[in-house]
Amino acid sequence: MSGSSRRHISRLGILTGGGDCPGLNAVIRAVAKPAMHDYGMEVIGIEDGFEGLVEGRMRHLHNADVSGILSTGGTILGTSNKGDPWHYPREKRDGTLEIVDASQSALENYRRWGLDALVAIGGDGTMHIARKLGGLGMNIVGVPKTIDNDLEGTDLTFGHDSAVAVVTEAIDRLHTTASSHHRVMVIEVMGRYAGWIALRGGLAGGADIILIPEIAFQWESVFRKVVDRSRRGKRFSIVCVSEGTSCPGVGMIIRTRDKKRTDPNQLGGVGDYVARMIEEQAHKETRVTVLGHLQRGGSPTAFDRNLATRFGVQACRMVAAGEFGKMAALRGTSIVSVEIEEAIARQKVVPPEHELVRAARAVGTSMGDE
Ligand code: F6P
Repeated sequence: MSGSSRRHISRLGILTGGGDCPGLNAVIRAVAKPAMHDYGMEVIGIEDGFEGLVEGRMRHLHNADVSGILSTGGTILGTSNKGDPWHYPREKRDGTLEIVDASQSALENYRRWGLDALVAIGGDGTMHIARKLGGLGMNIVGVPKTIDNDLEGTDLTFGHDSAVAVVTEAIDRLHTTASSHHRVMVIEVMGRYAGWIALRGGLAGGADIILIPEIAFQWESVFRKVVDRSRRGKRFSIVCVSEGTSCPGVGMIIRTRDKKRTDPNQLGGVGDYVARMIEEQAHKETRVTVLGHLQRGGSPTAFDRNLATRFGVQACRMVAAGEFGKMAALRGTSIVSVEIEEAIARQKVVPPEHELVRAARAVGTSMGDE
């Protein structure tokens, strides 16, 4: 359900869905404070994302709960990427797992707790669920979160800048060992099927080769770049590879599959594979670093704290104005609201001719395809 339906909102639910991400607490604070103090709403925190909605695990939030959390990582509410009400994992008596439709339980708990509206903070999975909950009659407002930045409808999601900052610092640190030992250092970064983290982090860190899912690379091009650099006296190289990149011959590397999750694929392993190939074929001593969840942990950057705060305040304003079925978004330098429908229409991946890709190529970075 979308559109404007102004009614008095006295009880507002809030949840964080999907993977944690720097800035979640900043959003919770920025929704809850004006909700309590400016609009006189009661705020109900739902635990562990949609799991808490299905199971009725909720608690009242007071000013003290949302004070002092602007700079903290994680989420005070807890989160889960296994709580899709329409794909809900339930253990049977015999210990095996069945996937059931628990959407009616979610609706019952929304009513039982007397919620008038719900702010759902999350990425594409959360927004898909949010739209379906709107279809059941819930008043939903979305806030776009994900380190991957792969959500349409907004120029940026909060959390992305913090992840890019971690990647940049890691590449700076890897440079010293790479140049001292004349090695190739491969760094595997997150991002799922979108290469934004690798592209922005690789560009900021001055990676020599950036491999992303959106640009098919060739081994020959990677080996040539490494060898050419050596010939020109640069006896080391930094390769920044996004976890969802397909390798010629083997495709995308999936570490494991978990059917309880909205997206069952757990990616990981491409860094090892790329490092092994460079060592064997380009005959360069190579090491690999997998940054993993370091990219999602810790304090948000100043940029993310501000973006998260602006999103939260906007979400609260949208609730008060009855703008449901919509998501807070960044367009240029302005905070606006867009239809959740628009945000989930497709995944926002890197256009191969994106200005950042052209900038990377212009400064001599290989995208593995030339
Ligand atoms: O979507 C955020 C993200 O960190 C991805 O970049 C990554 O592929 C995935 O989540 C990892 O999920 P999990 O923490 O469940 O392993």
